[in-house]
Amino acid sequence: MMLTEEEKEDIEVELQRYKFKRAACIEALRIVQQHRGWVSDQNIKDTAEFLEMTPDEVDSVATFYNLIYKKPVGKHVILICNSISCWVTGYDLIYEHLKARLGIDLGETSSDGLFTLLPVACLGACDHAPAMMIDKELYVDLNPQKIDEILKEYRERT
Ligand code: FES
Repeated sequence: MMLTEEEKEDIEVELQRYKFKRAACIEALRIVQQHRGWVSDQNIKDTAEFLEMTPDEVDSVATFYNLIYKKPVGKHVILICNSISCWVTGYDLIYEHLKARLGIDLGETSSDGLFTLLPVACLGACDHAPAMMIDKELYVDLNPQKIDEILKEYRERT
């Protein structure tokens, strides 16, 4: 499916901020993702055409930028911080706990379609590590019990 009129309009707004169309590449991918939940190969081609870039160029931006999802994701995306302050404050424990509770590993989506688990570089909350982010919400000072409460809250919301 081609980009929708709505997507094109949103991208046009971004384009006004840049001298070169290609400079809006990340923004354009974000817009497509906002509308569709993730960005398929076809979406990459269509975005490239719209920005007068090659599909390969857009694809490498999408691949480099780990908040652009190139595969379908669950309703909520959990980004677990995988950097040094979190490593030393209990990353392993948090990671094992999330894996066990969700029944998935990094890069996977839970069977109920609710959560996708992905690694991310430092979330900027090192003084309250370990940290994770769910959608746009930051969670810090994590421990297994806190994670259970957070997951419960998301499950109840659904
Ligand atoms: Fe995890 Fe900085 S290393 S928040």
